[in-house]
Amino acid sequence: MRQVAAALASEGPAAVERVAVHKTVLMCRPDHFTVSYRINPWMHPEKPTDTALAVRQWEELYRIYEGLGFDVELIDPLPGLPDMVYAANGGFTLDGIAYGARFQYDERGPEGPAYMDWFRSHGFEVVEPVSINEGEGDFLLVGERILAGTGFRSDAGSHDELRRIYGREVVTLTLIDPAFYHLDTAIAVLDTVSHAGAGNIAYLPKAFDEASQQIIRDLYPDAVTVNDDDAAVLGLNSFSDGKNVVIASRAVGFEESLRERGYTPIGVDLSELLLGGGGVKCCTLELRR
Ligand code: ARG
Repeated sequence: MRQVAAALASEGPAAVERVAVHKTVLMCRPDHFTVSYRINPWMHPEKPTDTALAVRQWEELYRIYEGLGFDVELIDPLPGLPDMVYAANGGFTLDGIAYGARFQYDERGPEGPAYMDWFRSHGFEVVEPVSINEGEGDFLLVGERILAGTGFRSDAGSHDELRRIYGREVVTLTLIDPAFYHLDTAIAVLDTVSHAGAGNIAYLPKAFDEASQQIIRDLYPDAVTVNDDDAAVLGLNSFSDGKNVVIASRAVGFEESLRERGYTPIGVDLSELLLGGGGVKCCTLELRR
């Protein structure tokens, strides 16, 4: 009994009963997916891609979300925007307000207005972005706090915009490894309720500069860290409802750590979408109305 209490106090292995929170997400079918330009080190336009396979893999993710009871909403994919499948980059939503994306690279530029149109016609107040930012790719809500990435894509100015729009604590974290160019490739939000509402995360320490690593250690002393193998299949690019964590099926070490902590990992193979430098989370934008 005392052992259980101790385990609960430290939120340690197995003793914790994880609670699933209902999620509403936006996805975009990869009907036009291919790799025709290179804006991150994962992309090799000279290598062939298989759009039909990408669609099948994406449909598997869609079915998993449906099976978990999520509400999944869809935005129409537009021809000529092969990266539009990575819906996480389409904006950031919280409290019924959608902060629009403004992409770093011209190739993705038109996605910003396309997603803003969708938000407008689906019940959101839209705030047009001034600074370059790539939406939930770089902004992660953990409990009441927003973790915000910079270094490759989103400008630090967008973090100030977030502060003004939402009035929440926004913690700037600096990414330094080009392979982990969006915050959602280097941090996974595991839950938003543990540790008295601060939530918990998993992350790849070497993706961050020293100062940011220190901030993460201070904020999340109990965070899960992943190894290079799991990071190399974008294992951290996962989506959790607080109990079920949908991850790359090849991230075996991460899967084990999640089980030890009482989460239920669910593996999915998005190998084709990995050719564009994205995984589970990239294909998922959380809608918070
Ligand atoms: N090819 C896309 C890009 O480089 C991949 C985006 C991945 N999305 C994400 N949320 N990490 O912009």
